[in-house]
Amino acid sequence: MKLFILFSLILIINSADIQTCLCSNLQTQYDCENAVKFQVASQDLFDLKLCIWNQGQCLDLLKDVQIPCSTLEQQICGNLPSCAWYNGSCQTFTKCSDYKFDKNILSQSCDELNCLDNGTTCSFDRIGRGEQSCEEIAFEEDCQRMYLLYKKTICNWNGSACVGQSLSSCSSLTEKQCLQVNAQCAWRNNSCVKRTCEDGQYSSQVQEGVKLCSSYLDIENDQVMYCELSEEGQCVTSDPEQLDRKNCYSQSFQQYTWYPEDQECQKCQ
Ligand SMILES: *[C@@H]1O[C@H](CO)[C@@H](O)[C@H](O)[C@H]1NC(C)=O
Ligand SMILES: *[C@@H]1O[C@H](CO)[C@@H](O)[C@H](O)[C@H]1NC(C)=O
Ligand SMILES: *[C@@H]1O[C@H](CO)[C@@H](O)[C@H](O)[C@H]1NC(C)=O
Ligand SMILES: *[C@@H]1O[C@H](CO)[C@@H](O)[C@H](O)[C@H]1NC(C)=O
Repeated sequence: MKLFILFSLILIINSADIQTCLCSNLQTQYDCENAVKFQVASQDLFDLKLCIWNQGQCLDLLKDVQIPCSTLEQQICGNLPSCAWYNGSCQTFTKCSDYKFDKNILSQSCDELNCLDNGTTCSFDRIGRGEQSCEEIAFEEDCQRMYLLYKKTICNWNGSACVGQSLSSCSSLTEKQCLQVNAQCAWRNNSCVKRTCEDGQYSSQVQEGVKLCSSYLDIENDQVMYCELSEEGQCVTSDPEQLDRKNCYSQSFQQYTWYPEDQECQKCQ
């Protein structure tokens, strides 16, 4: 009996392992160059890819090409999430906590490396190059904004530290937590319930108060739910195959990409 329970648990965990388009699937410069941005915006960090457009092809910085970071100038270095400008030279990015800066430039410098800071070093990888955990977050303000969608883990401030709590539904959440998990939940009629397209989502990346019409994962069955902005400006359920060039990849939870030859939005793989 115990074995069976363990086995089902493993199955449940694996079922949330969402596959997204590979860099090599992305046929347009627009989809390729915005891949990281779109993944981070929809918190779709199941398998982060660092895509780069090169001579008409979309390559994966982590798999297809070894970027010699050490030869790069500061500006190019700063734009490549696989490199880090540190100590006056460009180095291969390792992990956030390897980077330490003077107090007065710490926060901004960590931000430029796509990390948060903990007051002493950089910590917590904002774009998921390494494993993210709530426990790495040192400040209440950062903690209370964070939801790790791909782990279904909400970060809670316990008075002195940031601690992760894994979720399997929305129902137990307070109004404040419900808003923090608005990638999957919505506060309606004084309770926290599963999100729909109509609820929209506030992005942690975008200016406060701006509501996005992102596609999302159903918190209970881990299915991708596709949404799009209607002509009337409402966020509604969508058929990803009907998405246009600009919205195909970004609005499909990175499951579909635009094929310029066919002028169609098609599922990857
Ligand atoms: C940074 O530079 C200092 C002084 O040159 C050196 O001691 C230190 O090892 C360097 N650190 C890294 C990570 O390159
Ligand atoms: C910040 O992170 C570093 C590296 O993980 C750790 O050694 C240090 O104790 C942390 N400091 C605080 C204040 O959390
Ligand atoms: C908060 O969490 C930290 C780390 O788990 C723990 O050491 C601490 O005792 C907790 N504080 C409270 C007030 O629960
Ligand atoms: C809100 O809850 C009340 C009491 O449970 C119920 O009567 C009402 O129909 C609900 N409204 C909506 C919009 O679900």
